[in-house]
Amino acid sequence: MTPAEVVARAPAKVNVHLAVGPLRADGFHELRTVYFAVSLFDTVTVGPGEGLAVSVTGVDAGVVPTDRRNLVWRAAVLLAEHAGVRHDATIGIAKAIPAAAGLAGGSADAAAALVALDAFWGTRVGRADLDLLAAQLGSDVPFSLLGGVALGSGRGEQLSPVLAPTRRHWVLGMAGEGLSTPAVYGELDRLRAAGRLPGDSGLGSADPVIAALRSGPPAALAGALANDLQTPALALRPELGRALRAATDAGALAALVSGSGPTVAALVEDESSAIRLAAELAGVGIFRTLRAVHGPVPGARLVG
Ligand code: C5P
Repeated sequence: MTPAEVVARAPAKVNVHLAVGPLRADGFHELRTVYFAVSLFDTVTVGPGEGLAVSVTGVDAGVVPTDRRNLVWRAAVLLAEHAGVRHDATIGIAKAIPAAAGLAGGSADAAAALVALDAFWGTRVGRADLDLLAAQLGSDVPFSLLGGVALGSGRGEQLSPVLAPTRRHWVLGMAGEGLSTPAVYGELDRLRAAGRLPGDSGLGSADPVIAALRSGPPAALAGALANDLQTPALALRPELGRALRAATDAGALAALVSGSGPTVAALVEDESSAIRLAAELAGVGIFRTLRAVHGPVPGARLVG
């Protein structure tokens, strides 16, 4: 029997380590990254329909397309083709994750849609095949399915889980409009070609951040955070420098750009520090959204 409705949710991520290697022939860069899933979730609700219909509510709803440009649409078509079923569904995306923010919001939506539609259509696609479909949709989608903390290689889609037993607390601050991921990677290539950044010989080791995640205090994790996309994001959006300084001036242990930005992820000691920092940064007037979050949290799963 077809269920009336299926709901799934998936988390945002920050990259606590993001080392970018050379540009490959396929247009992607070789990465070594450590993904960290945080407690900010988009929710995808699937119900009956003829053909596909996608709607978006919540944060940044106005800028997210509702046609085949939406990763959720592509996820539905891909899953239906893979399983040999008709792509009939009405899909509602309730967004809490800002769009084009470096938080993998679109990837979270796609991962939640895969999980919800697999249950709704009864396609019972195995985990390995879901991972392959996810990787076809985007470099971060496999991580949005997996969640927790994971080391990503290849273009980010090849994952191995990282032990991270301690809950960590963050404030996520979005300053200004979204940034285009290809534009930030392109700026990195330009800065490297112009000799304004060291070349891409050798991907920075993730060992220090992995060790800090396994057993270190928050200050050790703070000292190990690194993101090769931060300098190009700052070059494209200089006011991000002020946003990073505002976070550390207000007491964050460290602040870095999340993924390709422009979200600033500020690491703090504990939950009450996160709430305090978010309140203080709200008064600074730089950030259009501020969220106190924690992690790691699980990846895409059914709700209810
Ligand atoms: O995989 P995804 O669709 O999220 O990638 C968006 C864009 O980000 C790519 O088209 C590419 O320009 C850039 N990218 C990259 N190297 C990666 C991941 C993404 O250059 N490993």
